[in-house]
Amino acid sequence: MSVSSNFSISSSTGSYDVDIASGLYRQFMSEGKKLIAICDERFAWDFKEAGVHAIALHSDETVKNLSAIPDIITQLRKAGTMRDTLLLAVGGGIVQDVSAFCAAIYMRGLEWIYMPTTLLGMADSCIGGKSSINVGEYKNIVGTFNPPRRVVIDPSFVKTLSSEQIAAGLIEAAKICYCRGPDSWKAYLANNPSHTMSEAHVAGVIATSLAAKKWFIEIDEFDKAERLLLNFGHTFGHALEGASHYRVSHGIAVGIGMLCALALEERLGARYEGQPQVAVLREHIQDLLALVTDLPDVLQGVTASDLFDRFSSDKKHKADGYRVVIVAADGSVQLKALPKDDASRAHLTAAMEQILNVLRKKRMAA
Ligand SMILES: NC(=O)c1ccc[n+]([C@@H]2O[C@H](COP(=O)([O-])OP(=O)(O)OC[C@H]3O[C@@H](n4cnc5c(N)ncnc54)[C@H](O)[C@@H]3O)[C@@H](O)[C@H]2O)c1
Ligand SMILES: [Zn+2]
Repeated sequence: MSVSSNFSISSSTGSYDVDIASGLYRQFMSEGKKLIAICDERFAWDFKEAGVHAIALHSDETVKNLSAIPDIITQLRKAGTMRDTLLLAVGGGIVQDVSAFCAAIYMRGLEWIYMPTTLLGMADSCIGGKSSINVGEYKNIVGTFNPPRRVVIDPSFVKTLSSEQIAAGLIEAAKICYCRGPDSWKAYLANNPSHTMSEAHVAGVIATSLAAKKWFIEIDEFDKAERLLLNFGHTFGHALEGASHYRVSHGIAVGIGMLCALALEERLGARYEGQPQVAVLREHIQDLLALVTDLPDVLQGVTASDLFDRFSSDKKHKADGYRVVIVAADGSVQLKALPKDDASRAHLTAAMEQILNVLRKKRMAA
């Protein structure tokens, strides 16, 4: 099986390779390496067939809670995992977060390989080295930087994903490419990103998105400056994930968060008329969100005031003000500080209310 794309990522713990090619999963499993796996439960049978011991996870947010980690550590120990055992993680962002976290702390560190199976995992989370774990009701509040030794991407996993899962992955890819700048954004759009795109175009989106993300994570591995821009949509998005009790999935919540960020900046005076790429971005995100048929219903149960409370307790804010990634009037993505006062609260709440109303109305229009 030839690899259609290959590049490496430099990180503080050394560099790691990223391979992209359809068929890599089957090839990898048949090589029968001596390893232990943590996988999404839907792939457990493949590991059984290959004779590889796998800890199968039911991927929901409760699995990536700190309270679920001791059981996984115990299973690793009972399976005889030692410091020189290679850990293979196969699944979406939840399997990735749990595996990266366990790999960082188990016996003070295991080497691991990640094979993402969701488009979000393939086009975004698989590189960057972050793991994020929930504690109680607080999403992603603890974590580690612990890059894998290798990332192996098989775009054919996309065949079994729902339209909503494809939308979630495309939203994150669109966000990364838009943040990187006009050339990257054009390259992303050239793949005709939609839920019906061909596998070749899926591979194109993945390669374009990861090339853009590579720039951010190599220049700013530890989220001090440039990489913070990739939080576009995330502060609002995390608030919505929590407020909907995770009925709105991560990528979809980020898309809604991007719309909230645009609405906020418009309320603060920005006019995007001279920037057609902003209109294209907004329309693309709206088209992808329209694929989530139960979204209008789910959003009925979410209030802007609950969203604001959750937004304001996000870890990315500072004592002296809120930090939010916005699209400036020139179309560029920027980090903005807003004072923690009544005016900011009113603008933020109104922007969230505006987007909730638009998305809820889609149901009435249908
Ligand atoms: N560490 C990071 O850098 C990072 C970045 C972004 C997101 N995340 C986290 O990732 C999580 C979201 O991950 P996700 O959206 O990739 O998926 P997921 O791991 O939440 O899985 C979502 C669903 O997809 C299913 N699934 C997985 N692969 C499939 C396939 N090939 N076909 C059909 N169904 C499949 C799973 O069984 C599950 O039901 C969130 O918790 C988010 O916070 C982490
Ligand atoms: Zn994200």
